[in-house]
Amino acid sequence: MGQSKLVILGTGGTIAGRADSQSQGVGYKAGQITVQSLLEAVPDLEQQARGPVQTQQIAQVDSKDMGWPVWRALLQACARALEDSETRAVVITHGTDTLEETAWLLHSLLPPIKPVVLTCAMRPATALLADGPQNLRDAVTVAASGARSGVWVVAGGEVHAAEQVQKVHPYRLQAMRSFEGGPQALVEEGRVRWLVPDAPFTRPALPVPKPSDLLSLDELPWVEVVFSGALARASGVDALVAAGVRGIVVAGTGNATVHEDMEAALLRAHDKGVWVWRGTRCAEGLPVAGGSALNPVDADLAQLPVAKARIAMMLALAAQPRG
Ligand code: SIN
Repeated sequence: MGQSKLVILGTGGTIAGRADSQSQGVGYKAGQITVQSLLEAVPDLEQQARGPVQTQQIAQVDSKDMGWPVWRALLQACARALEDSETRAVVITHGTDTLEETAWLLHSLLPPIKPVVLTCAMRPATALLADGPQNLRDAVTVAASGARSGVWVVAGGEVHAAEQVQKVHPYRLQAMRSFEGGPQALVEEGRVRWLVPDAPFTRPALPVPKPSDLLSLDELPWVEVVFSGALARASGVDALVAAGVRGIVVAGTGNATVHEDMEAALLRAHDKGVWVWRGTRCAEGLPVAGGSALNPVDADLAQLPVAKARIAMMLALAAQPRG
């Protein structure tokens, strides 16, 4: 029969959200409507999918509350679908708030052998002009179109790479963007128009655990982001270290510089074995190597936006031999 099936995994989010009235765009409850019901809002979904569609409800969460048990179940479901010779591609419905983190996790861990397409919505499914059905249709179009393998995010008619996607607006429909670049493709009237040539799949050279080791964990190593700026203090960092944090990503000023009081605390943390990566709180750009006393090696500069760097550090810590 060949690779004909599309697997759609539901995790919750605003795309599955329900409000008390059609005009309510905030204050609704995310993760209320089943993924199977979401399909009913897209009349030609099977046609766009070019074959049968199979759904699985992985979770019903507001993605701000994303936890390791849901990520683990999602990873397992994706791995099963990628291994299944009858499955062509995977679509995942997800909240917008931590979508860039889930996209990064999947990009870091899944083999790039089939398309895995995440989608979302800014308005609940009950809204007068809900954006979820169009986003879901577009995601299915991308997944079924023989799209490039790897992890993609489809929203607002745009296709973003997992490495680049970021949520940049709390309300408007066009809330996702590609960091330091534009979208990779556009979805127009049920067709995908790629804007960039197909390129070899790459991942940053950061360690990740073996899937079997990762899936046996009850939780991922604890990593926090601290924010440096005017009046930044040492005490927050000291408290995290005392509480057992394993890693800290500092959202530094400008070129990943850190307030001297906080920097002293981070150096103390580093000396106690806590991993410290310096990133920048700037909305654009990444830190350029050279010049800081904080980390002895510039490799500890986070060459990712801090939200993704935090997940990358969790995975890198989880890949360390267990002592
Ligand atoms: C969520 O992230 O689950 C809620 C917000 C959204 O999907 O836009």
